[in-house]
Amino acid sequence: MKKDLVSIVDLNGEEIRELFKISAEIKDKQLDLAKGKTLVLVFEKPSLRTRVTFSVAFFQLGGNVIYLAPTDIGLGKRESVPDVARNLSRWVDAIAARTFAHKTVVDLASYASIPVINALSDAEHPCQALADFLTILDHLGSQSEREAFDWGKIKLSYFGDGNNVCHSLMLTAARLGAHMVIGGPQGYGPKEEFIKAATDEAAKTGASITITHDAHEAAADADVIYTDVWASMGQEQEAAERRSLFAPFQVNAELLKYAKPNVLVEHCLPAHRGEEITSDVLDGPNSVVLDEAENRLHIQKAILYRLLLLTGG
Ligand code: CP
Ligand code: NVA
Repeated sequence: MKKDLVSIVDLNGEEIRELFKISAEIKDKQLDLAKGKTLVLVFEKPSLRTRVTFSVAFFQLGGNVIYLAPTDIGLGKRESVPDVARNLSRWVDAIAARTFAHKTVVDLASYASIPVINALSDAEHPCQALADFLTILDHLGSQSEREAFDWGKIKLSYFGDGNNVCHSLMLTAARLGAHMVIGGPQGYGPKEEFIKAATDEAAKTGASITITHDAHEAAADADVIYTDVWASMGQEQEAAERRSLFAPFQVNAELLKYAKPNVLVEHCLPAHRGEEITSDVLDGPNSVVLDEAENRLHIQKAILYRLLLLTGG
């Protein structure tokens, strides 16, 4: 594995499968691999799940955590990103960073001598996508087939904005060999560079990445239906105009009729109930959103474990 997890591109399919395996092996264990070590959380945006799960994961590995809130260090304003990275590298053992510009987390990784994990940037949310695919494995992979799970039988249909979460899901689907369809309004699809990176990889693994503007077509025979907010953090001023454009892609009971009867419904949370997803579906029998939230803890514990081993435990 590389020193950093900035993008899903930093992992190959085998490394993703290994993280799923490690997460199952250590999920209920209190370890001391991180004893005497410190993880720092550098966050430019708010968070519930990511902050708590990274903290609990590092505590379960025996380490300590420092949280730096958006206003604490003035990343790139009070002090340059390279200087912050070089200073932190002298005191702590790993950085998890939640940033606006993706370049900020890229720069932190290149100037830090310690592992840097992307805890969400404007372009990607790799830990989220890994937790989401782990959740699919937990629900659709029997114990016996878990390690050699055939991702080629999975169709993941994503609805709404081609955002950071969508990008990381596409790259993960491509690496694992799964089929992903993105249904959203024209002009709000995933960025070209991510479509290219995912389709190039898909050509090697047997995965497929399809983009459509027809919600029913996207939902047809889906094993997993996924959605995220229509306006991400930093896009709040666009929320009103997006609401009407995205309305045909709402995940609701009607849309679920097109999918497989036991379809899993995923959402990274936080959800805007009544916008991208209705409450009856979010709280309904197909929803696995809290399993995803729980799996953030288990997958990040595995990522930290793997990176600590790499850097000498
Ligand atoms: N899903 C997720 O990353 O949640 P938070 O923004 O609360 O961390
Ligand atoms: N796309 C959302 C994900 C939040 C976890 C955002 O960036 O705000």
